[in-house]
Amino acid sequence: EKPFVIAIDGPAAAGKGTLAERLAGHYGLPYLDTGLLYRAIGRLMADRGFDLDDAVLAGQIAEALDPEDLKHPGLRGRESGELASRVAVHPSVREALVAFQRGYATRMPGAVLDGRDIGTVICPDADVKIYVTASPEVRARRRTDELAAKGRSVDYERILAEVRERDARDSGRQTAPLKPAPDAVLLDTSHLDRDGAFAAATAIIDRRR
Ligand code: C5P
Repeated sequence: EKPFVIAIDGPAAAGKGTLAERLAGHYGLPYLDTGLLYRAIGRLMADRGFDLDDAVLAGQIAEALDPEDLKHPGLRGRESGELASRVAVHPSVREALVAFQRGYATRMPGAVLDGRDIGTVICPDADVKIYVTASPEVRARRRTDELAAKGRSVDYERILAEVRERDARDSGRQTAPLKPAPDAVLLDTSHLDRDGAFAAATAIIDRRR
């Protein structure tokens, strides 16, 4: 018996988190939202007034990251996502997080990890790799509707601009850029709802179990 690892990667607002969490419940595996690690580091840097471009300082914060830091309120918001993508460009930060993430993947019974570089860098030997995408317009529309449902009025065009900006930064960086692993299965959710995406993902996974 060896751990069963499911790697879920893809751009911001593609629905990875919702899907990964549901898959973890379905297969009885722990779930690690790796974006939360970068979000916590960005938040700690900003709260202390540190320069987000300072790779040395950001690396030190990453080395000292405590699981308690992941409970900081507001980490799932848009501002933290922006801070996360700025500190995520530093190799010092990424290297500091490798061991923690791999620890999840090497323990029984395995895990579902979601992020940007799980299939390419963190778990290149994952049993299943799914690259979840949707067009920028669809992702921006979903995000706008989600915020509206929480009573927040946000402008679709502005969210679309944020989505495109984050895509450009995550795909354009030198270290561990966002891209599908060569052996990843592409899952385009542009025309799927949550249940449709879940059904498609379980079909992919059940083929490899
Ligand atoms: O997935 P989430 O939106 O929470 O990620 C926030 C940011 O953290 C991403 O835009 C990306 O820059 C960074 N990230 C990363 N590698 C991961 C997970 C997140 O670079 N594995």
